[in-house]
Amino acid sequence: MVDLSNFLRGGAAAKPDSALPRHVAIVMDGNGRWAKKRFMPRIFGHKFGMEALVRVIDDCHRRGIQYLTVYAFSSENWKRPDEEVSGLMNLVLVGVSKYLARLADKGVRIHVAGDRSKVSERVCQAWHHAETTTAGNTGLELTVAFNYGGRWDIVQACKRAIADGLAPEALSEEALSKYMALGYAPDPDLFIRTGGEVRISNFLLWQLAYAELHFTDCLWPDFDEAELDKAIAVFASRDRRFGGVKPSPSTQEASA
Ligand code: IPE
Ligand code: IPE
Ligand code: MG
Repeated sequence: MVDLSNFLRGGAAAKPDSALPRHVAIVMDGNGRWAKKRFMPRIFGHKFGMEALVRVIDDCHRRGIQYLTVYAFSSENWKRPDEEVSGLMNLVLVGVSKYLARLADKGVRIHVAGDRSKVSERVCQAWHHAETTTAGNTGLELTVAFNYGGRWDIVQACKRAIADGLAPEALSEEALSKYMALGYAPDPDLFIRTGGEVRISNFLLWQLAYAELHFTDCLWPDFDEAELDKAIAVFASRDRRFGGVKPSPSTQEASA
């Protein structure tokens, strides 16, 4: 068993590369239930969910995780009551004005993935401001999936590839990957969903092909460093084969 205690604490000591996910993707679910348990409106849960996100960005950054992608608003979330949708949009404006400077100082680079055509001008401007302010940063790459859907992503990638004049013969998985919303990032290694539901809900359908999946009942506003470490430890214990077979110890010795 690999001793993970040091790097799970965020220590800088050498860590086994394959034990630390390079890219973590999170469906931050359970804000509404968290608020309901406290007899509070759902938006109260979203506010505390934002605080949890800021903590987790920091925790991932300190652990040396290179990419963090979070699902903040799905293309299906417009079905929610108007009051909740406008509360979530307002939270983007509050979040950017409250946390952008701090994240930028830490070296975090922010990307926003999703269909901006239906998002208000003010919210688009806030996201644009976050992206341009952090464009030169080289620390953790945070992608906020906002009005994002995995199916939308595949369609928009195809549209852009066609518009670029890509010939059918030139279309390949590798070529299309570059047109996907997260074309700059490797595929997620670890997928986490909080809130107890065991589904993907139209998150990164293309990119999650070989991610290790981790589901927890923890409601998103309660997600903390210990929960992150638990997920990383689960990831480290998984046997990733990518469709291949694991060489037996005797084969490995023979080829050494
Ligand atoms: C996830 O929490 C956050 C968003 C979808 C914006 P929910 O709002 O879905 O919380 P539950 O699932 O109702 O508890
Ligand atoms: C997924 O959560 C979307 C986000 C966390 C942004 P939902 O709460 O919207 O998903 P379903 O409806 O339970 O599948
Ligand atoms: Mg939910």
